[in-house]
Amino acid sequence: MARKGSERLEATGDEPAGPTTAAPPADASDMVAAGPFSEAERAAVYRAIETRRDVRGEFLSRPVGDAVIARLLEAAHHAPSVGLMQPWNFIVIRDLGLRRRIRDVVARRNEEAAGMFSDQRAAAYQRLKLEGIVEAPVNICVTCDRTRGGKVVLGRTHQRDTDLLSAACAVQNLFLAARAEGIGAGWVSIFEPDDLRPILKLPEGVVPVAYLCLGHVEELFGRPELEARRWSKRLALEDLVFAEGWDRPWPFPTGGEGED
Ligand SMILES: Cc1cc2nc3c(=O)[nH]c(=O)nc-3n(C[C@H](O)[C@H](O)[C@H](O)COP(=O)(O)O)c2cc1C
Repeated sequence: MARKGSERLEATGDEPAGPTTAAPPADASDMVAAGPFSEAERAAVYRAIETRRDVRGEFLSRPVGDAVIARLLEAAHHAPSVGLMQPWNFIVIRDLGLRRRIRDVVARRNEEAAGMFSDQRAAAYQRLKLEGIVEAPVNICVTCDRTRGGKVVLGRTHQRDTDLLSAACAVQNLFLAARAEGIGAGWVSIFEPDDLRPILKLPEGVVPVAYLCLGHVEELFGRPELEARRWSKRLALEDLVFAEGWDRPWPFPTGGEGED
């Protein structure tokens, strides 16, 4: 038994202290009531989801205070994560010099990106604005520490990238909170992850998952900007949902709102 235990410790590395055998039963006082939100609350949640936009060109220069940034980070930190790994860190970047360096990296990578499309598409690509790194008053880099929680993490045993997916959930929480706060957010991914390592002093094992530009906005696109600029279109949800397997469409309910 002792040998087994030590093998387990070797495999997991720096796991948190606590019971190593059965999980203790949850205390009844851990539970809270769960029911639907009020109609107004539900409407607010769906409104945030449906009117959230990726922002590149609408940022106001007005500074974003630390109090609102802290609320956005709190929302991000409430995201689900595999095995409660919480692999994220957040780097808040206000320094214009740093942001210019990152903007320059993205500009260079964007040239490479343009060359990956066909000629006609490349011309259209180059007309798109795909980042607001310097125009937005603050940027946040969301990272994923791929080593957090040790070598074996509950739920990540067979899908290593679930840590990255967890960090992406944090990003989405941040986006939705930002929408509710009237803060626009734009996700920039046109760089090699290692491009940011020296600039942001990222340690080994930590990768940037999202580079976000944030700022107050007065107006947002009413639909994805890439759709408004005829680059792409939202797909019909009905074409994406199956029933019981890949071969059968799910019959969407007709007639609008259902009670259940
Ligand atoms: C993982 C990820 C990376 C993205 N990278 C970029 C980017 O580099 N530049 C950009 O302009 N938009 C980027 N976007 C934003 C998408 O283009 C945008 O979400 C999509 O067009 C839909 O528009 P909406 O977010 O306004 O609904 C990214 C979004 C995601 C989820």
